[in-house]
Amino acid sequence: MSSCMEKDIEKILLSQEELKNRVAQLGAQISADYAGKEPVLVSVLRGSYIFMADLTRAIDCMCRVDFMAVSSYGSGTASSGQVNILKDLSDSIEGKDIIVVEDILDSGNTLFYLMQVLQARHPASIKLCTLLDKPSRRTKPIQADYSGFEVPDAFVVGYGLDYDEKYRNLPYIGILKPQVYEKG
Ligand code: PRP
Repeated sequence: MSSCMEKDIEKILLSQEELKNRVAQLGAQISADYAGKEPVLVSVLRGSYIFMADLTRAIDCMCRVDFMAVSSYGSGTASSGQVNILKDLSDSIEGKDIIVVEDILDSGNTLFYLMQVLQARHPASIKLCTLLDKPSRRTKPIQADYSGFEVPDAFVVGYGLDYDEKYRNLPYIGILKPQVYEKG
């Protein structure tokens, strides 16, 4: 893997193999839970794009995909609590079974807000699937229905997660060296 990014990584938290195995398990669980249904998987951009691509390929029931973009962090490391919809869904979700796909549930601000927005559009059901969960940081009453891994309160990047829009293309999830974001 490219050393231009690796030099900024303190340690690998979740390897490609661990991610692959857990995503396969989540896909199998969702496939069983939604057998005979046609859920719509809603990817919250940008962080979830890699997880979404792998998760949907691990699901073997009929499903659709849609995308939404919201902003909450800016280029900093902590959620501001301010959430804006930058790109809305392409299709109506009324009467549909929705699975919101996120890369990380941190303070819960983004998802707490987003789930309310989507709920108001009257889906038949709505569940949340997050790859990573940082429960120690939660300030809003929200939890995932499907969760890949519980992670410590460290700055994690890779597999879609960024720092300053970079490192998303690392194939594993790593902990960023503090000096990288301290100097930023
Ligand atoms: C991340 C992540 C969630 C949110 C979680 O997105 O994808 O949407 O933060 O944090 P919270 O639980 O504290 O609200 P970010 O705003 O970094 O944008 P990105 O998906 O484009 O990386």
